[in-house]
Amino acid sequence: MKAKITANKNFIISEIDKRIYGSFIEHIGRAVYNGIYEPEHSTADDAGFRGDVIELVKKLNVPIVRYPGGNFVSGYNWEDGTGDKAKRPQKQDLAWFAIETNEVGIDEFQEWAKRADTEVMMAVNLGTRGVEDAKNCIEYCNADTDTYYANLRRKNGFEKPFGIKVWCLGNEMDGRWQIGAKTPQEYARLATETAKVMKMVDPSIELVACGSSVPYQKTFGEWELTLLEHAYDYIDYVSLHSYYNNKANDTPSFLARAEEMDLFIKGTAAICDAIKAKKHHTKTVNLSFDEWNVWKSIGTTSAPEKWTKAPHFLEDVYNFEDALLVGCLLMTLQNNCDRVKMACLAQLVNVIAPIMTENGGSAWMQTIFYPFMYASNYGRGKTLRTIVECDNYRTKNNKEYPFLYSSVIDNTDKGELIVFAANRSLDEDMELELSAENYENCKLIEHIQLYSDDLTACNDKDCQRVVPDEVPLAEDGTILLKKHSWNMLRLKY
Ligand code: AHR
Repeated sequence: MKAKITANKNFIISEIDKRIYGSFIEHIGRAVYNGIYEPEHSTADDAGFRGDVIELVKKLNVPIVRYPGGNFVSGYNWEDGTGDKAKRPQKQDLAWFAIETNEVGIDEFQEWAKRADTEVMMAVNLGTRGVEDAKNCIEYCNADTDTYYANLRRKNGFEKPFGIKVWCLGNEMDGRWQIGAKTPQEYARLATETAKVMKMVDPSIELVACGSSVPYQKTFGEWELTLLEHAYDYIDYVSLHSYYNNKANDTPSFLARAEEMDLFIKGTAAICDAIKAKKHHTKTVNLSFDEWNVWKSIGTTSAPEKWTKAPHFLEDVYNFEDALLVGCLLMTLQNNCDRVKMACLAQLVNVIAPIMTENGGSAWMQTIFYPFMYASNYGRGKTLRTIVECDNYRTKNNKEYPFLYSSVIDNTDKGELIVFAANRSLDEDMELELSAENYENCKLIEHIQLYSDDLTACNDKDCQRVVPDEVPLAEDGTILLKKHSWNMLRLKY
């Protein structure tokens, strides 16, 4: 099969905000405890953070990490995770029916973020709490005044404010599973007042309001319209969440879910713009796709044994086809970088995550680690609008999709064109022609491929079966994308 991508230097979608390569650490399962934090581990640092995990997080080059939830945040008291560890209360986590020891809180997490070369995206509890606690939390984290909560932070050993720039106004407040779920009207008012007050404390912050927690949520549309009608002046982003899986055992449809993510993004952006027009506003509200991933065990609400600490829970093992979809979803985010300014792969360690750990043992990379690592490290610059010519395939529900899914990024700092390309054909290799218009002497210098014969191949602590390899460059310039493969092509100009 033949395919062609035409890109033109002048046809730019937008500059990529590096924060689209963000991720997420929630207090859930073994994400925090025995994930990022395990004081007894042989690689633990003076603060109890696992060094082997930090090393892998650095390889992913994650610029922002959402914290502390997720559903967890909707029943959380941020104060419980501050100050003297010996005095911190142990509590029920009603989101996941586990015991939360509070050994790690914002005091520790902001320190972990520094050590992992990342930034914190902090969520406040708008489930069981509201304006008052959000106000206190942001004073604790960001204020330099001689006032109670800023002084409490100083007393706890942090003279300088944490300077957390991005804040989420609750989590999935449209979801009936959420502690303190809200109607569109209830959330719109609460988010507006909380946003207003948080920006009084620190006008330099950016605020993300909850959009729909799944694209097919009944309230989709109405939720966003009501929110934006009330909160437009105060918020900067609307969030989107979406998880995908191949429970139907239909790989062609599964791989086409990248297009579903695209529709969700474009639909939500259109709703933001409708309210912008209605209000004659000059500001554009952008998007934060702050939870996305393949989630095979979706619907599991607690570990088999309730009320335990750091249970093994939602530890999905990803296979090769999951990595293919993750690679495609990343292209969707890159191609929508004019509106999606932040995104978080949910999650980062152990719970539906690219990085896995063994208590007291090793840390390793799941299959999905690799497309994320290449996208995050090389997908920096400006995304170009392209023309893609190739054959289509038809899915069981009679929709047509191109076999080739791709994104093209111009990294002007390095003088490199980066092409991410997935061949979604399950049977045929693809010969790819690249036409880079208005680039002089554009030359292919590297071809990285993620491929396995077996779509179900997984990695585990003993064996990395799915790993990228470097494809030798053909003398005549032919580029071959193997059947069901994900690729990164690097061209120098
Ligand atoms: O990432 C796991 C959970 O998925 C989060 O806690 C929640 O926000 C979403 O439903």
